[in-house]
Amino acid sequence: MTKLFKKLPNHIAIIMDGNGRWATRRGMPRNYGHREGVNAIERTIDACLKYNIKYCTFFAFSTENWKRNKEEIDGIFELLREYISKNDNIFLDKQVKLKHIGIIEPFPDDLKSCLMDMEKKTEKFDKLTITFALNYGGRDEIVRAVNQLLKSKETDINEKSFSLCLDTQDLPDPDFVIRTSGEQRVSNFMLYQMAYSEFYFPKICWPSFNEKHFVKALKMFEKRKRRYGGV
Ligand code: FPP
Repeated sequence: MTKLFKKLPNHIAIIMDGNGRWATRRGMPRNYGHREGVNAIERTIDACLKYNIKYCTFFAFSTENWKRNKEEIDGIFELLREYISKNDNIFLDKQVKLKHIGIIEPFPDDLKSCLMDMEKKTEKFDKLTITFALNYGGRDEIVRAVNQLLKSKETDINEKSFSLCLDTQDLPDPDFVIRTSGEQRVSNFMLYQMAYSEFYFPKICWPSFNEKHFVKALKMFEKRKRRYGGV
């Protein structure tokens, strides 16, 4: 399967945008869009396994998403809870490692414990790592890293030692960032890590994203010439 592409991204980061618009256009509540968005996550995980992508990170809840109404926030928490604790659990069945980045401390206790439990159960799997960014903001992450370094009294900071203080310390930088729905913004996602990422902004809203769109995205990546500031 991998032979289909001359090169593949090692780490794909996804801003799953357009759930609300997708639902509203269908006369449905916004949370219906998030629910269908979870099906798109599942399709994407399957596609990562099929096309041999090693890391995929989903922006599921930002530090700014607390501004949404309580019903929508509770709905997203419920979807996460359901998804992680499903009996036929995708992570255990498919041997996928689950991680999170961001500060989950303000999340409901039962959600935190089922997430941490699944992270523990899957920590040894290594063919695919799925990361959910939860209460995550790139600026917040950088400021937390600076505070950690100040406390450590370390004086000789370099890019390597700094990146080890980020939530992504054991993840490679994303090679490829996909933001659905046609919006072309980074929205405070992985600011430090995206220094040399390639970007792709398909018009499709996240709940409709499927294997066909995923393959098209991989083909776009294949065409990119990455120079990292060189010639
Ligand atoms: C962006 O679309 C989407 C979100 C902020 C939430 C995404 C959350 C999920 C798909 C559920 C999380 C569950 C798991 C299992 C990770 P939007 O609501 O901003 O869409 P809009 O721009 O059309 O309003």
